[in-house]
Amino acid sequence: TNGVITIDPGFKNTGSCESAITFLDGEKGILRYRGYPIEQLAEKADFLEVAYALIFGDLPTKEQLEKFHADIKSKSVVDDDVKKILDAFPKTAHPMGILSSLTSALTAFNPSSVNVDSEEDMYRAIVKILGKFPVLVAWTMRKKQGLPLNYGSKSLGYVENIMKMMFEQPNEDYEMNTIVKDALDKLLILHADHEQNCSTSTVRIVGSSHAGLFASLSAGISALWGPLHGGANQAVLEMLEAIKEDGGDTKKYMAKAKDKSDPFRLMGFGHRVYKNFDPRAKIIKKAADEVLNNLGVDDPILEIAKGLEKEALNDPYFVDRKLYPNVDFYSGIIYRAMGIPVEMFTVMFALGRLPGWIAQWKEMRLNKEPIGRPRQIYTGETERSFTPIENR
Ligand code: SDX
Repeated sequence: TNGVITIDPGFKNTGSCESAITFLDGEKGILRYRGYPIEQLAEKADFLEVAYALIFGDLPTKEQLEKFHADIKSKSVVDDDVKKILDAFPKTAHPMGILSSLTSALTAFNPSSVNVDSEEDMYRAIVKILGKFPVLVAWTMRKKQGLPLNYGSKSLGYVENIMKMMFEQPNEDYEMNTIVKDALDKLLILHADHEQNCSTSTVRIVGSSHAGLFASLSAGISALWGPLHGGANQAVLEMLEAIKEDGGDTKKYMAKAKDKSDPFRLMGFGHRVYKNFDPRAKIIKKAADEVLNNLGVDDPILEIAKGLEKEALNDPYFVDRKLYPNVDFYSGIIYRAMGIPVEMFTVMFALGRLPGWIAQWKEMRLNKEPIGRPRQIYTGETERSFTPIENR
């Protein structure tokens, strides 16, 4: 501090806003969306219901949910010219980079989504992105797999239709797998919001300049991409694969994670707020066992993950720093059992977090929050004069 400005790197002790959307208690491991405990929502609700509650404040009546879903479906067509942008990406492009670009590109095809001062205008932009983003997600995955891009079926539910768009194979009747559907509902619900995390703060600050909703979400997708944030779920699987290749030698990776000279971190461990078990990780770990059993998948990676967790929970370095498994530690094991490619794991995180980002953006705009513009403490050169290049 310089007596006037206090610097708080990473905003570890800085609150950015007041919010009525999500409550979390890091010490007690409590997480609630609009007051509803996530344990109940994960068990009893479906993803679109939870999205509605996050965005509009309460769980919907049957009629409200049906209208919401109908409005979303009516806006779920993506301009075919967007495929030309998708085609321009190399096959090696990371899906998060593709989706950040395509989400921002949607502004060009939906210019009315930018100036949204009334709740009606906001609602129109919100149902558009809730309809179009899952299409972009499915198209991005299928493009990399060389499969035709489709729209699923109008008769299906929100999550069921996402699955059909992602998984249906040409010349085969699509069979809805209810185990996968229930697990996907649960995973998307558990990722739906998490108060002022890095990507949500990004959506709020970009939106505070009154850039459009799609541009703000595109920025959030970029922030989520980082391996310290949503990108961790992909990094966890890559780490567990490496340990498996190494003959399951978890001790070597634990040592690397504790070695300050080694940038390697135990991915999927630690959290800025949870200084106890991440309540989501608890539910996902249990679901991993159930889903893999129900799908008849025997993945040695799950045992390696459990072994690593057990070691870390008994290691003073991790215990002293209160490092526990977080939401990203077990989720990838379930995505993989569903047949989702590892580079799509963080995209699945974005699909879940979409309603949370939208809810937080809407709250920021309705609260008429000022444009985000922090100060700094200057530590550079004192005043000096320009010198011509021949004298430098
Ligand atoms: C998500 O904010 C959110 O809510 C995010 C999220 C959401 O829903 O939006 O919950 C989703 O992003 C979960 C986190 C996914 N990231 C990872 O799993 C990557 C690995 N985790 C770390 O990079 C780290 O724990 C963070 C980024 C999650 C939190 O970082 P902080 O709060 O800035 O903590 P820090 O880096 O200051 O670490 C404190 C100490 C340090 O050691 P010392 O300098 O005190 O000796 O703990 C160590 C760190 O080196 N540490 C780790 C570690 N995490 C922290 N050491 C080894 N392995 C780790 N994973």
